[in-house]
Amino acid sequence: MPLADIAAAVGTPVYVYSAATLRDRYRAIDEAFDGYPHALHYALKANSTLAIARLLRALGSSADANSIWEIDVARKAGFEPSHIVFTGVGKSPEELECAVSLPLKAINVESAGELARVEAIAARLGRTARVAIRLNPDIDAQSHPHISTGLKINKFGVPVDEARALLQTLKSRPSLALVAVHVHVGSQITSLDPLRRAAALAAGLSVELRRAGAPLEYVDLGGGLGVSYDGREVPSGREYVSALVGEVRRFGLPIVLEPGRAIAAPAGVLVARVVDVKPRDDTSDFAIIDAGMTELLRPALYNAFHRIEPVSISAAPERRYEIVGPVCESSDVVGRDRLLPRLAPGDLVAIRDAGAYGSAMASNYNRRPLPAEVLVEDGEWRVIRRRQTVDDQLALET
Ligand SMILES: Cc1ncc(COP(=O)(O)O)c(C=O)c1O
Repeated sequence: MPLADIAAAVGTPVYVYSAATLRDRYRAIDEAFDGYPHALHYALKANSTLAIARLLRALGSSADANSIWEIDVARKAGFEPSHIVFTGVGKSPEELECAVSLPLKAINVESAGELARVEAIAARLGRTARVAIRLNPDIDAQSHPHISTGLKINKFGVPVDEARALLQTLKSRPSLALVAVHVHVGSQITSLDPLRRAAALAAGLSVELRRAGAPLEYVDLGGGLGVSYDGREVPSGREYVSALVGEVRRFGLPIVLEPGRAIAAPAGVLVARVVDVKPRDDTSDFAIIDAGMTELLRPALYNAFHRIEPVSISAAPERRYEIVGPVCESSDVVGRDRLLPRLAPGDLVAIRDAGAYGSAMASNYNRRPLPAEVLVEDGEWRVIRRRQTVDDQLALET
């Protein structure tokens, strides 16, 4: 599907996703279980555009929602509450009230205080809240510090000793049903070792609890599998799943996973147009494109690398470029020090592997509209989110 055709029809910047890649990526993880009992809860935070959520639902995916609003989107996409786990470190009282009143698969609780708040709401509503406790295993995910969540110094979860003590109290708390132990040590993890260690810890604690009489239904091992942004090798879906199953199988517990990036990232590109080129230093130019930190925050937020390629094959000699966005921040750099065939205003570039944490993190800074999104499926394409207008933005204001 020529990206130039889509850009001509829809304008730029535009996210373009491949339905076939989304399906392949989902199935690669799902099928790697080879019959071992499991459920994949696609992490909506990676990309919750309705059509993407619906596509994953149609494949049989369940959902991981990180806010009550993601729960709303999940339900609109066809996910039953019983197929949704509710994660997140700062659930507000309103969010908890809503979550307890739905028969969610689990509320993944992050602290003793949150557990008490869930309990109080459940008791008042006369319900039993299904909860999982998120462990903080003090394991280094060896990823970027901004997306590592498993160390003691990170805000997430409950340290193992505290969790043990907390879990003891659950026997005498009839408004709470403990259904799982949960762990998620970070995102863009490219070494299986931390994932394996976290799985072993969560499975071990689950079995300890089961022996003590807790009716645990599964172990939730979170998400986190990385993708190759720069072409270097990363573990495959099969290697990932077999590492986790290897730690859990002897306990016989079903596994819940919450993959986001590994499914969505490689399925999307952000197509942008060069708006200006100007000299930078003796050996390089700035190429200013019409997408920046407002459309794809990852490079500015954590120096993330995305391959950037011209959309049309060009025989022009190569030039070194600092590829920057239009936003008035010096951190608005999309790609540093890139060799590309000589660019001119009007040329299109594709920023690769942008399907996860791309459109989902877009903002209106500088009043820039949220970009359009397109899904390519079976040789055709359709707009799945139209470009926002300034009137859409102003509709909220008086
Ligand atoms: C609790 C939880 N589960 C799942 C995910 C999804 O992670 P990833 O997109 O790396 O698979 C995240 C994201 O960091 C998360 O915080």
